[in-house]
Amino acid sequence: MSRIVAVVASPREEGNSNAIVDAILEGAMGLSTNIIDLYALDGLRLVHGCRGCRACKTSGRCAQDDEISDVLEAIREADCAVFSTPVYFAAESAQFKVLEDRMFSFIGADGKPNLEPGKRAILVVTCSGPEDAAAAATVERLSAIIPRLGFDLTDTIVFSDAGGTRRAADDADLMARAKAVGLSMRNT
Ligand SMILES: Cc1cc2nc3c(=O)[nH]c(=O)nc-3n(C[C@H](O)[C@H](O)[C@H](O)COP(=O)(O)O)c2cc1C
Repeated sequence: MSRIVAVVASPREEGNSNAIVDAILEGAMGLSTNIIDLYALDGLRLVHGCRGCRACKTSGRCAQDDEISDVLEAIREADCAVFSTPVYFAAESAQFKVLEDRMFSFIGADGKPNLEPGKRAILVVTCSGPEDAAAAATVERLSAIIPRLGFDLTDTIVFSDAGGTRRAADDADLMARAKAVGLSMRNT
């Protein structure tokens, strides 16, 4: 059994991030006994940005108590995290950035992750421009940050809706790939 946490940082319920994450989770569920939590960050109401108080460097936990705290705790307990964000002005969405900054609490005073070792992460980035250009800076930055937080980043899925003319849900190859990534998380 694996605990899997998926984070969707797009506000679009029928959007590309949701379609890709749904396919990953469908693959991960199947007949397995995986436990899956899905957090739609845009639906959270009591949300604060990182205060930079560095209390987490002593306690190992973020000092704030809001709905992001629940997401942080779920990620802390998880074996595998699926992080997804659309590209907004060449970066992650504001919804994702709040969580990202609060995950500073996963880094100890020694600069090393304070999470249990052996966690896996999957990154999903959606954009509108050419995938290799529009998402590149975001993918590159998050690919550097996620391992610093203590995760082994094993898969990255990038999708462009080509200026809003395509939907991830209609892309059979993409859905199959996302499902296969999910399948690889079964009981691992
Ligand atoms: C505020 C805003 C800013 C955006 N900025 C970019 C951008 O800089 N580059 C890009 O390729 N797409 C940009 N997009 C398009 C989205 O990244 C794209 O439509 C994405 O596929 C949406 O994913 P979602 O359906 O998961 O929300 C922007 C969209 C919005 C609403």
